[in-house]
Amino acid sequence: MARERYISGMDPIALYIHWPFCLAKCPYCDFNSHVRERIDQRRFAAALRAELAWEAARLGRRPLASIFFGGGTPSLMDPDTVAQLIADAMHWFEPLPDIEITLEANPTSVEATRLAAFRAAGVNRISLGVQSLDPEALRMLGREHSAAQAVAALELARMLFPRVSFDLIYARPGHSVAAWQAELRQALSLAADHLSLYQLTIEPGTAFEALHRQGRIVLPDDTAEAAARFGLLPYEVSNYAAVGAESRHNLAYWRYGEYAGIGPGAHGRVRVGGALLATRRHRAPEPWAARVEAQQHGTSHEEAVTPRDRAREMLLMGLRLTEGVSEASFLARTGQALDAAVDGGTLSQAVEAEYLVRADGVLRATAEGRKRLDALLGALVL
Ligand SMILES: C[S@@+](CC[C@H](N)C(=O)[O-])C[C@H]1O[C@@H](n2cnc3c(N)ncnc32)[C@H](O)[C@@H]1O
Ligand code: SF4
Repeated sequence: MARERYISGMDPIALYIHWPFCLAKCPYCDFNSHVRERIDQRRFAAALRAELAWEAARLGRRPLASIFFGGGTPSLMDPDTVAQLIADAMHWFEPLPDIEITLEANPTSVEATRLAAFRAAGVNRISLGVQSLDPEALRMLGREHSAAQAVAALELARMLFPRVSFDLIYARPGHSVAAWQAELRQALSLAADHLSLYQLTIEPGTAFEALHRQGRIVLPDDTAEAAARFGLLPYEVSNYAAVGAESRHNLAYWRYGEYAGIGPGAHGRVRVGGALLATRRHRAPEPWAARVEAQQHGTSHEEAVTPRDRAREMLLMGLRLTEGVSEASFLARTGQALDAAVDGGTLSQAVEAEYLVRADGVLRATAEGRKRLDALLGALVL
């Protein structure tokens, strides 16, 4: 049964659409984002629509559970383009009645004026990149908005959209536990039903990496537990939500569901002809668009995911979730039983060491286990 379900490919899919442009490059960010004097909105709209049509043609009329406009800064997209892409997705796929349509927005004044247009385009969930509520920290993070603008954008978003989330970055250089607690207190008073709290990571190739290497920024190591002290319970390592308000799109990634990735640098995991394919598009925006114009898609890389990688990827994603990985869906999605995919001795040791818990057909990571997932999975997956 499970195997047939795995092959049938009629589970709902998620759709990710990448907008690769920003007003400025933030010094900590290694996402596929680029600054341009002028953005050819019409060219990129046409290319995104063409690549979506190409991908949809081979996937067939699958049920569609969510659309996520990510970036870069998708709130810099022309709202008409957002509306067209949503209409196209509804045409190519079979939208579920409660389809979640999220758009990442930066809280600058440019975007605030466009939020109503995004709502009219069909977006029903906004994820605002607030990053901090402290003016000094926003300057240090190189943000283009003030704390007051962020709060105003949040209030406006809450009036316009049924669902609103915002992102904060903690463990910033100079960030103290007391300051983070005060910021969290303010954030909770502003929060709707979902909050993403990311610990600052120093990414290769960013301006922060150079400063960090020179010892000019130093990260604190004691802010990580503050959220727990507020009684906030994550449903995923960095994500907090009221019951039922979890990001359905991101849950699709973490539960190892299928997702199509459209736009420069977008990744996908899609089932085509019985095989699960890992897809990746060209990262650089203009060469990606040129390829789409020449051949309807900008794929740079596509290969079937091996059984070992399916097991590894599903555990890596699923063990980030508080709910863990159900052994039944592990079998359904990877085509292998959990016991066939992992080293029994290592699993017992990890359970013994209280890094993993296996009970009632579910494998979960403890808080300690989640801190060492990479190392754990390296040893665990056969
Ligand atoms: C695609 S990014 C940005 C979305 C939007 N452009 C913005 O800046 O608000 C998604 C989120 O990743 C987080 N992020 C990016 N780089 C990070 C880093 N080095 N450490 C921690 N969080 C990071 C930020 O919170 C950001 O909102
Ligand atoms: S954090 Fe957001 S606005 Fe800043 S460079 Fe990255 S994607 Fe662009």
